[in-house]
Amino acid sequence: MADADRDELAALVRGWTAHFEWGRESGAIALRRRGGASLPTAGEAPRVAAPVETPRVPAAVEAPSPAPVAHVVAPQPPRAPPIVEVAKPSPAPTPPAQAETRPLFEEPRRTFAPVVYAEERARLLTVVEDQARECRSCRLCEGRNQSVFARGSTNAELFFVGEAPGADEDRIGKPFVGAAGKLLDRILAAMKMSEDDVYIANVIKCRPPNNRPPEPDEAAACGPFLERQIELLRPKVIVAWGRTPTSFLLKKTESMTRLRGRWHEYMGIPVLVTWHPAYLLRNPDAKKDTWADMKLVLEKLGRPAPTGRA
Ligand code: URA
Ligand code: URA
Repeated sequence: MADADRDELAALVRGWTAHFEWGRESGAIALRRRGGASLPTAGEAPRVAAPVETPRVPAAVEAPSPAPVAHVVAPQPPRAPPIVEVAKPSPAPTPPAQAETRPLFEEPRRTFAPVVYAEERARLLTVVEDQARECRSCRLCEGRNQSVFARGSTNAELFFVGEAPGADEDRIGKPFVGAAGKLLDRILAAMKMSEDDVYIANVIKCRPPNNRPPEPDEAAACGPFLERQIELLRPKVIVAWGRTPTSFLLKKTESMTRLRGRWHEYMGIPVLVTWHPAYLLRNPDAKKDTWADMKLVLEKLGRPAPTGRA
């Protein structure tokens, strides 16, 4: 093998080793098959980033240029590398033959690894939360008071996914604690459930300025935190509240009208799409839709459906 090829291969292996060590430290229990859990498609940062030796140090810190845009192209946070494609981007004029014919690693599992015990799950989630707190992988870190990770029970069978923190969440440090959150709590109460029965998190952990919708590259940078939360929780049912979690989890571009009220799937977990509570506050007529959707959720959970409406 030519020296250049050997060096390249060695660099590749170093990058991967660092990545796997990072994953182990942060509680990875399975690798994702490419295209399984997905990320935004149009106009996003490149999905296949070159392996980096120190994935936890954002490139923005090392880069000579302090331009804010450097954050955007910084290496993504926790991300299973695309196993199958690893040999393809090689710029070497004569890529090593063995890399073409034989994958370096086994194909990742299609499904998650076995559920971890409750105590370990809670511990691993705090590790991921600490990483989110320190994350500087996108521009949103600049305007946050704090990252907003989750509230609810780490043993819940039901996982609510929202969009991003607003001003109240950014101030308090918990998701859905403002006006939309109050409605969410009323919906939960109508389902005869409480915070003990649900785990609540957003796609985006840091507040976008003026509550603007998150950009695709922000979702791509932050999404792996949510993916890890879902993997560790392994809920029975996910509810995607509004467009942002729907696009992120399902990669579907149809209208909310078409997508809501039906079962979809994320990594084998049933996902119900419904209106965002903030949308319901502006369009109270849509509440009956969401209540019908919550009855589907209760049915899937094997819980009795309360009579009447929220
Ligand atoms: N809207 C969301 O999507 N998430 C929150 O945490 C608050 C408001
Ligand atoms: N757009 C959204 O983002 N969410 C909704 O629930 C409806 C429209």
